[in-house]
Amino acid sequence: MPVFDLAEAQIAVHWKEEDHIPPPSSFVEQANLTDPDVDKRFALENFPECFNEYAEMLTWFKRWEKTLDDSNPPFWKWFTGGLINASTNCLDRHLPAKAEQAAFIFVPEIESEPLERITYQELYNRVNEAAAVLRDVCGLQSGDRVTIHMPQVPELPISMLACARLGIIHSVVFSGFSGHACGQRLADSGSRVLITMDGYYRGGEAIDHKEKADIAVSAAKLSGQIVDKVLVWRRHRDRTKSSAPMIDGRDFFMDDLLKRYAGARVAAVPMPAEAPLFLMYTSGTTDKPKGCQHSTGGYLAYVTGTAKYFLDIKETDVYWCTADIGWITGHSYTVYGPLALGTTSVIYEGMPTYPDAGRVWRIAERLGANIFHTAPTAIRMLRKSGPDEPKKYDYHFKLMVTFGEPIEPEVWRWYYEAVGKKEAVIVDTWWQTESGGFLCATKPALQPMKPGSAGPGVPGIHLVIYDEEGNVPPAQKAGNVCVRNPWPGIMQTIWRDPDRFVATYYKKYCKDPRSKQWCDWPYFTGDGAVCSDDGYFRILGRIDDVINVAGHRLGTKELESACLVVTDVAEAAVVSVADDARGRVPDVYISLKPGIVASESIERAVADQLEMLIGKIARPKSVRIVPDMPKTRSGKIMRRVLAAISNEMPVGDTTNLANPEVVEQIRSMVRRDD
Ligand code: WTA
Repeated sequence: MPVFDLAEAQIAVHWKEEDHIPPPSSFVEQANLTDPDVDKRFALENFPECFNEYAEMLTWFKRWEKTLDDSNPPFWKWFTGGLINASTNCLDRHLPAKAEQAAFIFVPEIESEPLERITYQELYNRVNEAAAVLRDVCGLQSGDRVTIHMPQVPELPISMLACARLGIIHSVVFSGFSGHACGQRLADSGSRVLITMDGYYRGGEAIDHKEKADIAVSAAKLSGQIVDKVLVWRRHRDRTKSSAPMIDGRDFFMDDLLKRYAGARVAAVPMPAEAPLFLMYTSGTTDKPKGCQHSTGGYLAYVTGTAKYFLDIKETDVYWCTADIGWITGHSYTVYGPLALGTTSVIYEGMPTYPDAGRVWRIAERLGANIFHTAPTAIRMLRKSGPDEPKKYDYHFKLMVTFGEPIEPEVWRWYYEAVGKKEAVIVDTWWQTESGGFLCATKPALQPMKPGSAGPGVPGIHLVIYDEEGNVPPAQKAGNVCVRNPWPGIMQTIWRDPDRFVATYYKKYCKDPRSKQWCDWPYFTGDGAVCSDDGYFRILGRIDDVINVAGHRLGTKELESACLVVTDVAEAAVVSVADDARGRVPDVYISLKPGIVASESIERAVADQLEMLIGKIARPKSVRIVPDMPKTRSGKIMRRVLAAISNEMPVGDTTNLANPEVVEQIRSMVRRDD
């Protein structure tokens, strides 16, 4: 019996083995990655120098001396001795050749608003001006942290690149997170500057975003972090979309400040390759999100190399990744990888189905997008709302990506046939915030696709499946997927918590904690997987206390602590339940303090609390008040039993329960509700 409660990986559906589908020849003929021996180049005998290939795609102030410094496992240092700046690689080096080429095309959600075409020259100008504000108005310098809580607008990458230009570590918080969640991340990162926006559009609604900044600053203060400046971008220049007041001396409109810096140029700071570029908070097994710290040189090299080979990006492409820039996919594969490669990217502000199910395909047609990168949740939504829409539009994708969750073979086929019109190759990419870039994917021109499988490890990623004891299970048996070797995109540490870094990712399978050999430190991904005879991995889901809700990672502990804020709640247990549209959603069970009578208002209060403390993405499928939680004799809540009930699966062995009678009570409650 595994030590964890019923996890995502165990509620995985058992898909049958699917057939291989070859990539379309039109794709193969023009692909970036065509060398069938690429895996040999990246074989372990060529490790770590094989990764120089990716670093050589970048422009360095000073070339690195050592590819990998592994003297202090598992704190790997890539390309040491090298000096580099991420913003010059995304901007300066493309000028003047690409001055007139669009770096970004911004598509506002409101269809009647004009598109915004931002050339490489204009992006360069705007990043420099924003960097001048950070340096001169805020007094920031390299190594400082800045939290950015912004929606899907070009000012978000502009803010990120302005930080990168000065060596300031950015920490972007997804705009869907609440002010409270943002405040928690502000405090943990030690940011004294918050960059935000007045508002944005989502689903046709004008959202007030600045009001979250005020909550965030107060929440940070409660945790001991003073935020002294809040920089507010305006969705429409000189027109405010928020009713929240501007606090004198603290809040500044960016467009006002920028007027003073028109035409400013800020020299990019040459940063050591291993200087942190950014933090990205992600959920784990405790209620405290972890700040994954990513390096400048290693990270940028890895996302550039993998974007070139697996997204097949060329300068002449129009590439569209729908992932929010506030998550790792947007960082790696909307901002840093594609800009380093000098391509044109689309940024769309709003909902894929707004105002109708044809919107996405209309954008693709109008802009001539030829690479499309999205997640199964969006694909499911588009399929449901307009299965026949794609054929009404004249666009042609050469490559399409799916990421973030397992994709059901049925949904995969619709993506391939209806969206891709059988002309596009599909790359299913498995990876994580921690990994910086792709871990598994098929090489688009060299390997056949298999619906529902992410494929083999990408070049230089050597995977192994272990059972709970660290043995390699027989072929085709599910287990915990690990990476045997370090790679340049791997996070450096958890911000301010190196012990948690080692405990979370390495402790489980490191046989000798004193070992100085990298091969003794396999990286534990936290995912369950099976590997088929063809070497393709199928990812089953998280084996820890993390729920992947529509591609957003949420920690069960985070959700449970939010429920406990409601004073009537004595105990809370959150489990993951399979959902047709969102993949997985949280399902909440609560028990009440003695003497409190169950009521719908308590259930509503819990759901509201989740939304307030975490964000709308945490809205549960249901909140159920139970007479008691199923508990072990030692008093531990057995989430496994609740998860089985929510997912209509057998509860299994309950002999260990102190109160087995509650199982039937809860089960009949759930059946009644359904
Ligand atoms: C899951 C998103 C199946 C997995 C890039 C992982 C996937 C978690 C896939 C990371 C995929 C990611 N197939 N599952 N192609 N890609 N996952 O940090 O459980 O937001 O551990 O990074 O998403 O989510 P994160």
